Amino acid sequence: MRRKIVAGNWKMHGSNAQNRDLLSALRAGSVSLGCEVLVCPPYPYLAQVADALEGTAIVCGAQNLSQHLEGAFTGEVSAAMLADLGCRYVIIGHSERRTLFGESDAVLVAKFVAARQAGLCPIFCLGESLAQRQAGKTLEVVFEQLNSLLQVVGVEGLVDAVLAYEPVWAIGTGLSATPEEAQEVHAALRGMLSALDVDVAAALRILYGGSVKAGNAQELFVQPDIDGGLIGGASLVAQDFLAICRAAN
Ligand code: 13P
Repeated sequence: MRRKIVAGNWKMHGSNAQNRDLLSALRAGSVSLGCEVLVCPPYPYLAQVADALEGTAIVCGAQNLSQHLEGAFTGEVSAAMLADLGCRYVIIGHSERRTLFGESDAVLVAKFVAARQAGLCPIFCLGESLAQRQAGKTLEVVFEQLNSLLQVVGVEGLVDAVLAYEPVWAIGTGLSATPEEAQEVHAALRGMLSALDVDVAAALRILYGGSVKAGNAQELFVQPDIDGGLIGGASLVAQDFLAICRAAN
């Protein structure tokens, strides 16, 4: 049985004061959550989040990391630093990193390896654009993204890692994939991995992301191959995020 995960990706939002309110509401509401819950704030607030959530079941993750381990890389943050700050997870390959910051498959795979070396759990994101979906290329695109990782780390490299399917056209648009559309891609990804290793595929958690809200979370999370969600906008509103967590219970 795969335990569900609900992860909040705060993206570039927040301030000390705003986070304090959000975190105290999350603390108060976190008592009886049955799924795994994490929040991924911007780098400067990682310590604040780790402190505020200490003693709760909610853990902390980062939105990005450097592919380099240490050295003269101005502005970069290493996997070891994230682990040192109490992070357990790190998001890798979000479509905003791929498109706005030009992160290639090769860079993302290097980030995955760096995260593993520091003991962080990578949440590796995949997803097609609207044009790719309309051209009937969804599975081709996500398979190619996954393959670039598998070629380096092998299927065994996915043990205790997490995948997130985030169709680019559903991110921040209010237009979620339907449960059937999402399930189809999740099942195809699991099927592809099953052909390589049945046990790794069966244990791997695959999250859905893209306009998940309190109102549609449950119908997505009951799909057999959807193991939780990666939540953007709705993770900034405590009551919405907690409702999504409860939908995963
Ligand atoms: P929204 O939930 O705001 O659509 O964002 C999804 C996302 O990008 C999470 O990583």
